[in-house]
Amino acid sequence: MSNPASKVVRAPAEQVYAEELAALAASDKGARPAGWKLSPRAVRQFITGSDSPVTVESGGRRTKVVITQKFYGDEALVERCIVTLLGSRGLLLVGEPGTAKSMLSELLACAISGTSMLTVQGTAGTTEDQIRYSWNYALLLAEGPSPRALVPSPVYQGMRMGAVVRFEELTRCQPEIQDVLVSLMSDKCIQVPELGGEDGVVFASKGFNLIGTANLRDRGVHEMSGALKRRFNFETVAPLSDKAQELSLVRAQTAVLLRESAVDVETPADVLDLLVTTFQDLRLGRTAEGTVVEKPSTVMSTAEAVAVSHSAALEAAHFGNGRMEGGHVARQIVGTILKDNPDDAAKLRNYFEVVAKVRGKTSAVWQQFYEARKSLRP
Ligand SMILES: Nc1ncnc2c1ncn2[C@@H]1O[C@H](COP(=O)(O)OP(=O)(O)OP(=O)(O)O)[C@@H](O)[C@H]1O
Ligand SMILES: [Mg+2]
Repeated sequence: MSNPASKVVRAPAEQVYAEELAALAASDKGARPAGWKLSPRAVRQFITGSDSPVTVESGGRRTKVVITQKFYGDEALVERCIVTLLGSRGLLLVGEPGTAKSMLSELLACAISGTSMLTVQGTAGTTEDQIRYSWNYALLLAEGPSPRALVPSPVYQGMRMGAVVRFEELTRCQPEIQDVLVSLMSDKCIQVPELGGEDGVVFASKGFNLIGTANLRDRGVHEMSGALKRRFNFETVAPLSDKAQELSLVRAQTAVLLRESAVDVETPADVLDLLVTTFQDLRLGRTAEGTVVEKPSTVMSTAEAVAVSHSAALEAAHFGNGRMEGGHVARQIVGTILKDNPDDAAKLRNYFEVVAKVRGKTSAVWQQFYEARKSLRP
């Protein structure tokens, strides 16, 4: 497949997984809800992957396409999200940072509507115009209000097309801006009083819905009103607690990132195991052997684990001998943990001395990890 995604740093999911989406659409025998590109079962399969490849027949030829697992963990959560989107309420994904809320919303939007690009990126500076519509002022001055001069927001476009719209970081927006959504979500239409007549209102076509994401750590920043909460079903996305699952996720995503970075580097299983074990120990504050360790204040999310693994592999490729080692992980993990709290350095140093040193007596990769503690500045 000539991949238009290969030239950009990060392509949208509908481009990255175009082949999988086409195969699912061609083989999908389930009923598709109005406005949906796939049946609910096929949407779930796209997100959680399938054990056997999908067979597609075209022009008398049969091809098999593997549907990769993209979201790891709670499959029931994925089903509940899909069911919510079938109804008239919006879906709000809440959770700790780095638990794949944005990724899940992107995958849902692209599987259901074929695009994940109808997105409002919520910030403290988000304005009402960015949720409803604004104007091309040159045209507005020249011609007066006309459909041509109207600049539609992602929500406006989603209503018109009957597509899922994403609202990232909803709780970062000011409460009065969030409240614009209250009536939009009830009436399912946007009024444009300046235009009047038929053009003066856009009614949401079937297939329209909204997926919001909100970070639990920031939730208090701008609490949502009760009225808006009632228009959403909340789903909490929890960090992965199962080590085997986190390990296969880190392995799979590191391989994808390295392919995109076009480097050839060996990522041994015991080094990846060390990395995930370190994240789990520091996240839980306890090791599998029962040693208590202090938790750093930084979020030890799976997203961070993937980032550390990718950087450690890049370091091995460009400055090492092409094989990722414990030392690469140690050096990259330092930058993840030491962000804003100076106390975290002491906690990490303690982990090296109390946990890594002991494990290093019987494991070469833990010994490399322990040796690299010197990269931690005093
Ligand atoms: N359960 C999971 N399944 C798949 N990937 C996961 C999972 N948990 C974390 N990840 C990793 O997290 C990355 C995506 O994080 P994403 O930006 O979606 O998180 P987020 O919850 O939106 O974080 P934030 O609150 O900071 O916006 C994925 O690319 C993947 O590497
Ligand atoms: Mg996010």
